[in-house]
Amino acid sequence: MCGIIGYVGHQAAAPILLGGLRRLEYRGYDSAGLALQGPDGQLTAIRAVGKVLRLTEKVKAELAGAPAAAACGIAHTRWATHGAPTERNAHPHFSGDRRLCLVHNGIIENYRAIRARLEAKGHVFISETDTEALARLIGEHYQGDLRKAVGQALAQVEGAYGIAVLAVDEPGLMVVARKGSPLVLGLGEGETLVASDAAALVAHTRRVIYLDDGDIAVVTADHIDIRDRHDGIREREVAELGWDPGAVEKGGFEHFMLKEIHEQPESVRNALRGRLDAEHGTAVLAGMATSARDLAEIQRILLVGCGTSLHAGQVGEFAFEDWADLNAEVQPAAEFRYRNPLVGSRDLVLAISQSGETADTLAAVREAKVKGALVLGVVNVVGSAIARETGQGVFIHAGPEISVASTKAFTGQVAVLLLMALRLGRGRRLSLERGRALAAELARLPELIAQVLAQDAAIAAVAARMAAAEHAFFLGRGPMHPVALEGALKLKEISYVHAEGYHAAEMKHGPIALLTPGTPVVVLANRSPQLDKVWSNAEECKARGARIIAVVSAGQEGADLADERIVIPDCDPLVATIPAAVALQLLAYHVARLRGCSIDQPRNLAKSVTVE
Ligand code: F6R
Repeated sequence: MCGIIGYVGHQAAAPILLGGLRRLEYRGYDSAGLALQGPDGQLTAIRAVGKVLRLTEKVKAELAGAPAAAACGIAHTRWATHGAPTERNAHPHFSGDRRLCLVHNGIIENYRAIRARLEAKGHVFISETDTEALARLIGEHYQGDLRKAVGQALAQVEGAYGIAVLAVDEPGLMVVARKGSPLVLGLGEGETLVASDAAALVAHTRRVIYLDDGDIAVVTADHIDIRDRHDGIREREVAELGWDPGAVEKGGFEHFMLKEIHEQPESVRNALRGRLDAEHGTAVLAGMATSARDLAEIQRILLVGCGTSLHAGQVGEFAFEDWADLNAEVQPAAEFRYRNPLVGSRDLVLAISQSGETADTLAAVREAKVKGALVLGVVNVVGSAIARETGQGVFIHAGPEISVASTKAFTGQVAVLLLMALRLGRGRRLSLERGRALAAELARLPELIAQVLAQDAAIAAVAARMAAAEHAFFLGRGPMHPVALEGALKLKEISYVHAEGYHAAEMKHGPIALLTPGTPVVVLANRSPQLDKVWSNAEECKARGARIIAVVSAGQEGADLADERIVIPDCDPLVATIPAAVALQLLAYHVARLRGCSIDQPRNLAKSVTVE
């Protein structure tokens, strides 16, 4: 969603801020803006609707011939929540006297009440945003000490925020604060940066400090002072970013999504690295360090997540039941938090999230902890809120995922869930022999994915014959049902083709009415105990004129029923969910490309959803 970058140091701030905003573009936004602070403290704000490029042009035009370059500033990409994407609503927003300004991620839930109070005092609001209410509120408290004013204002605020604030009277000093919306400080030589996402910092420094909820920090070029919500001084650990700047570049690929699809042999290898114990047919997971006895006492697994991460959880559900004999249940995180779930100390809750910042998943983690469950994260971003609040879990190590549509995170999540199922299974009834066979299958995953990627051209050809369709169906049974859901999600989010994922057997209970001659129906028909049934379901669609695109296992291509085939390597039916998902990612990618869509930043979407 929205993105923040701030800089205070010795270099010209504008190019650094604009470069940072470009790094944050992937998160999805509809307007952008920045404020530069000159050595005299004066604040100059420039805003633009649309892309960062538009803002860059405006900055160039408006700053041409300007005096001394500002070495301090804050910038923002906005994803509209309160008020349309207009210049007036774009950040930064100013206090009533225009002597301080701020950028803000998140939502101030009680902004209407604050706004009404301030209007009664004579404030005339310029925008429709919740953020302007916060800017004006801080201004009301300001008496020469920005940190104090921010603290006093935030004490009156309900909701989520990550903010960066500058004041005319305190040049070269930035106050930043977070609650429910991530902020990370980047430490350079005589310069300090702040960003909502480490991707914006990696070109400048790898030394970072993740702020905690409730932190308020005063940041200058060479000093950082972090206080918690009770004004206590906080020493926060300096962490080293694991990735290099190249990780956030396209590296010769046309889109980040394509690059990330092709990274999967490596990213899944990273998820498995050092975690498979071939001899004992199990997985070694440091993040599941709970004692073997405690793990053996787990009675039920609850998997929570949103979107693609939810689909990964749905694959995991089958693995826990099949490999570990454990009762497993998946719940959308947004539902879990409000339905008063029955959870207790013998339940293991797995919170699945690429970003580790999704508001609903984070809330589900908090609820599960309150109810006494053992809560583990299956997270990609180290230092994220879910990683820190769970305190334990298994990272997927997929590296930065820039494309809004999630690909390598999904396969990393499934790989980790399969490892967990293997580990828990071996602690229960899964035999040494079966454990070894499954561990060997998992070890093949990078190679299995590479075999699917090698068929890129063939999949692109299937996509070409499907690109004109406005509707498509994806069908699967068992663990391929969530893969069908994920295939449909990928297609709809990046190509805007209306796609439905269904359990193959459910088609005839209603959706089959939607089939017309030529409707593409992608059927996941890999080797599995239910394969015959899957083909019968495909037959029912074919009889209504559908065009059947079958994803089949090598050597089991099936009868002549399919109009097109995408062949994945033959492997265990649960392990096959990963190569099958990769094939569907490529299919969606090529359809979207042929339709000329904005693949990395689909309309209306944001990368990490930090609001409910
Ligand atoms: C779809 C997609 C989303 C996310 C969802 C959860 O391609 O990326 O559906 O999976 O917003 O995000 P995380 O995994 O960051 O919690």
